[in-house]
Amino acid sequence: MSNYTFSNGIAPMTGSATRNIFSLLTRPEIISFAGGNPARDCLPTKEIGECTAEVFADDATAKRCLQYGATEGIPELREEIIRLAKDTGIVANGDGSPIAHNNVQILSGGSQGLDLLLKAFCNPGDVVLVEDPTFLGFLATVQSYAAKAIGVKMEDDGFDLADLEDKIKKHQPKLLYVISAFSNPTGKTHSAAKRKAAAELAGRYGVVVAEDDPYGKLRYSGTAVPAMKSFDTADCVVYLSSFSKTISPGMRCGFAIGQADIIRKMAIGKQGTDLHTSNLSMMAIAKYLQKGYFYPNIEKSIPIYRQRKDAMVAALQKYMPEEFQFNNPEGGLFIWGEFIGKGSKINTAEVFPKAIERNVAYIQGSVFYADGSGPNTLRLNFSNESPERIDQGIKALGELFKEEL
Ligand SMILES: Cc1ncc(COP(=O)(O)O)c(C=O)c1O
Repeated sequence: MSNYTFSNGIAPMTGSATRNIFSLLTRPEIISFAGGNPARDCLPTKEIGECTAEVFADDATAKRCLQYGATEGIPELREEIIRLAKDTGIVANGDGSPIAHNNVQILSGGSQGLDLLLKAFCNPGDVVLVEDPTFLGFLATVQSYAAKAIGVKMEDDGFDLADLEDKIKKHQPKLLYVISAFSNPTGKTHSAAKRKAAAELAGRYGVVVAEDDPYGKLRYSGTAVPAMKSFDTADCVVYLSSFSKTISPGMRCGFAIGQADIIRKMAIGKQGTDLHTSNLSMMAIAKYLQKGYFYPNIEKSIPIYRQRKDAMVAALQKYMPEEFQFNNPEGGLFIWGEFIGKGSKINTAEVFPKAIERNVAYIQGSVFYADGSGPNTLRLNFSNESPERIDQGIKALGELFKEEL
């Protein structure tokens, strides 16, 4: 059958290079720095098992769980999220009214919030501003709506504000996408001053901000920064977060906090997508939060991640050529690297098959750039391998890149 025509958005999409990479990663001999999964050791199997059993221990609750539910999500979970958001400085709307249930939408993962914001605001051809580089999944979703992502220059503490303002004026974007803490892929965090300035700029020019914060709670050093949403006097920031990295990605549960009219449109969009998030996931996670399991499990996970991150930093210092520049992030799951000087000719996409021959995987950096640039960059994930395998894998990569040079 060939008498069909795909949409302008989907037609040019072939399934990313990373999909092919992920099919290789099932091989146990591969040391993978390519994914972004939480560590298996950090998944709270016992506690989620207990919470799920409690849902089914009471017949009325079990029947409520197995029945259709409201698109906005169960009130118990929205209540817990309002409480949780206070820890990130999100307490009130722009008019000073406290964050209430109609400001909260439960999502089937944070990525659904990105999709729903694009669905709510973007027509084909519209521009969305993004950090350069940014989350690959968002770039793909922008493309699926036939919208256009344009990168804004980044500094170590957030946007280059002059470039941001220039691009807002030039492109009149519908959305500004921000990963406020420990970005995927760069590990960078926006400072409080830059968050405030970007929120003010967006408010002044009427740009809606998608503040994506799945990693903020995974901090290994330094001090927490209030959410960009906490500086949002214009009510233009929608804060998105997810339990994927702090509880479980498989449960597909996240949330949006924003101005009530925007949240309402997101709910309307969600009705056509999946009607509502799984009641079982929402109920089990609500119980998990009510029982106080959330922060203790994160506290248990942080030393595991910190140890893996430190092992990767030490191995990079030891084995990689001096032309490789990389960061030491204060949190999150990723280290970002770039070949500079005579290393700038290295093309990490071309080297990748040779890395796989040596049983090591990473992700080429170019897939994270809105314009596909950054051939000499790469992203390394440290959460999914033991310190020993991290050392072994980076040693192999170091030898390979030294040969390439
Ligand atoms: C920056 C960023 N946003 C959103 C997501 C999506 O997470 P989920 O849909 O599992 O909540 C990810 C996942 O890796 C991510 O890195």
